[in-house]
Amino acid sequence: MKMIDLILAKRSGGSHSREQIQFLVDGIMDGSIPDYQLSAWLMAVCWQGMNMEETAFLTDAMCHSGQVLDLSELGSVVGDKHSTGGVGDKTTLVFVPLLAAAGIPMAKLSGRGLGHTGGTIDKLEAIPGFQVDLSTADFIKQVKGIGMAIGGQTAELAPADGKIYALRDVTGTVESIPLISASVMSKKLAAGANLIILDVKCGKGAFMETEEKAKELAATMASVGRILKRPVLAVVTDMEQPLGYAVGHTVEVIEAIETLKGRGPEDLHELCMELGGLALLEAGKAKTKEEAEAKLKELISSGKALQTFAKLIEAQGGDSKVLEDYSLMPTAKLKREFLVPGEASDNKWIAHIDGRKIAEAAKVMGAGRTKKGDPIDLSVGLVLKGKCGDKLKGGEAAAIVYCNDEKQFEAACAKLSEAFTFSDKEIAKPSLIKATVK
Ligand code: URA
Repeated sequence: MKMIDLILAKRSGGSHSREQIQFLVDGIMDGSIPDYQLSAWLMAVCWQGMNMEETAFLTDAMCHSGQVLDLSELGSVVGDKHSTGGVGDKTTLVFVPLLAAAGIPMAKLSGRGLGHTGGTIDKLEAIPGFQVDLSTADFIKQVKGIGMAIGGQTAELAPADGKIYALRDVTGTVESIPLISASVMSKKLAAGANLIILDVKCGKGAFMETEEKAKELAATMASVGRILKRPVLAVVTDMEQPLGYAVGHTVEVIEAIETLKGRGPEDLHELCMELGGLALLEAGKAKTKEEAEAKLKELISSGKALQTFAKLIEAQGGDSKVLEDYSLMPTAKLKREFLVPGEASDNKWIAHIDGRKIAEAAKVMGAGRTKKGDPIDLSVGLVLKGKCGDKLKGGEAAAIVYCNDEKQFEAACAKLSEAFTFSDKEIAKPSLIKATVK
């Protein structure tokens, strides 16, 4: 078999056999396929696509390119959740303890942030002492012991993805549905869970800018799951504006804790109910969507979900006193307001909040990375004072900016003024959940 033949076949719209895909992934791993040939093949896939079987073969081969966790000793249902990346997305921090409290073991491996979105692992480090670097043995032991763990994803899981992604990033081949599907699903499958819950974001703040593309991605990942016999539930959600109000690290952890206390933003709560409801139904923990939602709400109102988060924090070396005392987390020196333009008598509806610009506002203050390994400031961030469709007055705060000096505030304001679009007329609130795919 020769790589040139695979490139030529894909360039002219042909499809590959399982053996050919295995040859490709083996060649990536042993270095016998040079980057220039892999790049040419990736570009051919971008133009010609892959059918569902090929995508599943690629996913499976990438999944088995490294360690595959065996979580079978944890029971017949072990949940994992993944979001394709969104601004202000702190869902995992709520979802993992909530589902663990509902009796579904949650084994969640997360990444650090790169680009315009922050990573769950970075956010968790705002909790003093919280350890994200768990060995595989400790990760499994913890899920066995307390029903949940959130660990940092290691390079040992689906290492072929790391190699392919590094090339995709520099060859303009990231935006390919089969390649994204194989990248996400190979890591999820290698992480061992058998109830995979995916949140596919669509809109300006997301990888998939249109709802149509996001639905296609969700359906592809669900099909790959079906072919490889691992149930996948996927929800397509709006990312035309950030999720919740907080964007940053400490501020997002606070918002997640508030959500577990039943005082969080409506959209984040709605998303957790939707994803959680689907998971409970799939795991046989509820018979109807209504019953599932009632169970999840009870776990929040009774404080059980919050207590479960405390258990998670303590098991991973963190200080659970943060749940009551937010000042224990890194805190910015200054709190400033970004104002709505116009006079106090003006009614201004928020027409749009560009998630990417909001993330950039946090990044210019030090909350984001430009390259892997860059240090980040967990204390800075911002909290929106309204979402699309909300009415504010001229001169009122549109966002609270948590920064460490005036220069940071000015840099953030420059981005925020590009992020917000206001209207003099009433604007309808957008819906969050666009579709559910199984
Ligand atoms: N997230 C991934 O893990 N892989 C992609 O290709 C895109 C988003």
